[in-house]
Amino acid sequence: MTVRQKLYEGKAKIIYVTDDPNILLTHFKDDATAFNAQKRGSIVGKGEMNCAISSHLFQQLEARGIRTHWIDRPSPNEMRVKAVKILPIEVVVRNIAAGSLCQQTGIPLGTVLQQPLVEFYYKNDDLGDPLLTLDRLLLLELATPEQVDQLRATALQINQLLSEFFQNCDITLVDFKLEFGLDATGDLLLADEISPDTCRLWNQAVTDPTQRVMDKDRFRHDLGNVEDAYRQVLDRVLAQPIQP
Ligand code: C5P
Repeated sequence: MTVRQKLYEGKAKIIYVTDDPNILLTHFKDDATAFNAQKRGSIVGKGEMNCAISSHLFQQLEARGIRTHWIDRPSPNEMRVKAVKILPIEVVVRNIAAGSLCQQTGIPLGTVLQQPLVEFYYKNDDLGDPLLTLDRLLLLELATPEQVDQLRATALQINQLLSEFFQNCDITLVDFKLEFGLDATGDLLLADEISPDTCRLWNQAVTDPTQRVMDKDRFRHDLGNVEDAYRQVLDRVLAQPIQP
């Protein structure tokens, strides 16, 4: 596989085209941003850790019937993926109240939700990734009604699989963000990454609300020991064999 030019550079990843039009190469960076890039920094080793965690989770999801863009991991911080057209929608699933849900609704941090909450955000940096209503999503023609149903159902299925997986790691999956893309035939594939950058993960062995955090909230809120937390997640994730 020959890597050609850069297709896109995001906050945490660079996407390269390859000599195969159906395959892209994702390079995971150590750069970290938060609050729509108002806060910037670097987390040592993050690129490799997130690439390894994402690769393992994508393989686990594939083994349970979720179609993803993942192909393989040719080097520690690179992932080969199927070329898809990313939908400009961030799908967030929440099991426990945290982050913007608490800020925008007043629900106390840590409240266990009666059922998982699925939310759609407009992936648009200029607008600050606003929360969408279903009607706005359809108005903007970001997806068809059928695709919205499929996104919701797939996100809930992924939530079940990932919650169970992280439970086996003694980690609570609080919430997470997914992105999806359409392949050349119009099929919907899970894309982007699943990592401590995109999930809230709480260490079940710890009750202290700042000590239990094993994800990017350590960076967002200057809680310290960011690399250690990511490393812990990596070790626990890789210790779980992929189960069909
Ligand atoms: O900030 P908020 O509470 O809405 O985030 C919900 C979840 O989505 C968190 O796990 C966060 O890390 C993730 N997220 C993300 N990328 C964004 C926004 C949120 O990975 N642009």
